[in-house]
Amino acid sequence: MQQAFRASIYHCLEDPGEEGRDSACAYLDDGLLVVENGVVAELGPADQLLPGLRDDTSVEDYRGKLIIPGLIDCHVHYSQLDIIASHGGQLLDWLIRYAYAEEARFADKDHSASVAGAFLDELLRNGTTTALVFATVFPQSVDAIFEAAAERNMRLIAGKVLMDRLCPDNLRDDPESAYTDSKELIERWHGQGRLGYAITPRFALTSSEEQLEAAGRLASEYPDTWVHTHLAENTDEIREIERLFPQSRSYLDVYDRFGLLRERSMFAHCLYLDETDRVLMAEKGAAAAFCPTSNLFLGSGLFDLRTMSSAGIAVGLATDVGGGTSLSLLKTMSEAYKVLQLQGQTLPASRALYLATLGAARALGLDDRIGNLEAGKEADFVVLDAAGSSIAARRAQATTSHDELLFSLIFLGDDRNIGATYLQGRLAGDR
Ligand code: GUN
Ligand code: ZN
Repeated sequence: MQQAFRASIYHCLEDPGEEGRDSACAYLDDGLLVVENGVVAELGPADQLLPGLRDDTSVEDYRGKLIIPGLIDCHVHYSQLDIIASHGGQLLDWLIRYAYAEEARFADKDHSASVAGAFLDELLRNGTTTALVFATVFPQSVDAIFEAAAERNMRLIAGKVLMDRLCPDNLRDDPESAYTDSKELIERWHGQGRLGYAITPRFALTSSEEQLEAAGRLASEYPDTWVHTHLAENTDEIREIERLFPQSRSYLDVYDRFGLLRERSMFAHCLYLDETDRVLMAEKGAAAAFCPTSNLFLGSGLFDLRTMSSAGIAVGLATDVGGGTSLSLLKTMSEAYKVLQLQGQTLPASRALYLATLGAARALGLDDRIGNLEAGKEADFVVLDAAGSSIAARRAQATTSHDELLFSLIFLGDDRNIGATYLQGRLAGDR
């Protein structure tokens, strides 16, 4: 089946960097995206490609709107959907007061299924087509999110949370069940269609050495799974890690000692690393998730994108809901801009786009499949529509370039401006 989509089209081919290099991105004012069997077949100027289309090709006319690649959320907790914006406290206090209490509800498969469906529909409404997701300690909560993703044909990576100490009893597993449950879930889900498995120790604080060792064993037995955890988010947390692991040089070193620092390892936050950590992270090919709304909401700190990028670490943008306050990656980009402003750094629109598309795909090791709209990639894309809300529409009228338009949508846009979301060429949600 051949389809074509006509619109302005904007995507990244490289990291535009802080200077927003034009050559890193491609923009077509009147473009045509040709999709065959869910994969991008061709991308080019509409006037050049239209005459060569097959007679049976359907052409969707989105002129006046902007197509970008599907957005990628590198770190988010689906079980925290219903506790977004819970007042009070920094990380450790917030976890106890809100997150743990909420996650206990996911022992119930029906509850898990109901939240998983609502969560994924919300992602799609916000233009997010791929996500790396924390489930909860309950295996049935992992089944629920994978089942919901498969139903929607979303590309999704998720895993069972491992936590066997310093947490409520009803959320506690043990090293043995952590290993066997994860192994079973990997065998059931990893590589099924668009689904992938992430070995998910919550953070070093809530895992015993035996459990971290079991996680490391899984990570080496299944090298193409992901490792997904939190790292150096909050100063009180770091003090606890130093107390619990006195023999480790740093927080990152704890994960490294247990074989959890490798390619396809995604560390959320990474606010308090030193140069030795950064060099090691880059050498091992691990990636960082930049979670600006969460870092501001929980008062955790400011992510230093310039230093992380200069060290050669792949970085992707992430919402980290429910510590984060929005599932919208547009909103997340705008908060990233502010976090960088506070550090004398800047974020051009093109680089914000990169961090939520190709940069995120690279951080996840999925850039051979997603991240931009080059021929051969899976046709996951979003139709941005400034006309979806009145202020964004007014501001769009006054823009004179695609970068200015995108920048205005980053700040003024929300789910009303996500005109449509496509998964492998199929409409997965529209306004
Ligand atoms: N560190 C350990 N667990 C969590 C969590 O649920 N949210 C955030 N933001 N940080 C964490
Ligand atoms: Zn998190």
